[in-house]
Amino acid sequence: MTIFLSGKFLPVEKAHISPFDRGFLFADGVYESIRTYNKKLFRYIDHLDRLKRSLKEIRIDFYDFNSLENIIYELMIKNEIENEALVYLQITRGSVFPRTHSFPKEKISPTVFISVQELKESIEEQTKGVKVILQEDVRWLRCDIKSTSLLPVVLASQKATEENAAEAILVRDGMVTEGTHTNFFAVKNETLYTAPKSHLILEGITRKVVLELCEKFKIDFREEFINKDDLKSFDEFFITSTTKEITPVTSIDYWTINEGNPGKITMSLQSVFKKLVEDY
Ligand code: PDD
Repeated sequence: MTIFLSGKFLPVEKAHISPFDRGFLFADGVYESIRTYNKKLFRYIDHLDRLKRSLKEIRIDFYDFNSLENIIYELMIKNEIENEALVYLQITRGSVFPRTHSFPKEKISPTVFISVQELKESIEEQTKGVKVILQEDVRWLRCDIKSTSLLPVVLASQKATEENAAEAILVRDGMVTEGTHTNFFAVKNETLYTAPKSHLILEGITRKVVLELCEKFKIDFREEFINKDDLKSFDEFFITSTTKEITPVTSIDYWTINEGNPGKITMSLQSVFKKLVEDY
């Protein structure tokens, strides 16, 4: 596997970063996961804008955005990606000795790491739906930043895996926020509900696409928090992300929804989404 690390294309075995990299020491960095459809990066500008915003919010001075797209396509060629690709792009504040919590006084170069791999499509999950569990949202209050500091997410996600669930849906002060790596949607009386853009969720690109599709196909939606105790009053649920696209949720904890069948609105959104990406 060839990766890109701070200016160089390297075989992964030859790629090294300093143990003093602030990404390693403090998770002082941000990232993006991007996928292709028809071998083209999907909604690249949206991902780039979100990356720029994340960098700005944590005050990492990185401006060399123009070269990134070419590097990604070059990596696809070097890694002989035959089908669709999943791109991981991470930028940390860089490496400096000695370790200090505040930003280094001297100017340091951010560490840029990009990898691409063949994307594994989760077709079965998308047709049959998945189980999710509810977990307390113990993340920080800037979930709008796509930070690499993901320990609460790692633990909640592991809990989901141990309970044979595909995702943990997070609940803060009784309100459903989002999944560990997905946005969460519920449907009631043919109206979609999802948590509003705020510091408590990441504004997913797939979430944005779904809301655009709702506008286009005149499906009502509300950006409102749902109370965990009201979940049972909804008819259907789904999660969205770059890799999971629109995945129906067929059970939450021990509650089986709609006899374990994906919902009607979910499936029709899924089919218009598929059409959109097929033509991308
Ligand atoms: N995760 N919410 C969180 C907390 C996420 O980490 C993600 C993405 C999303 C969905 O965003 P998008 O639709 O832009 O993929 C929502 C990526 C896939 C990851 O962690 O690799």
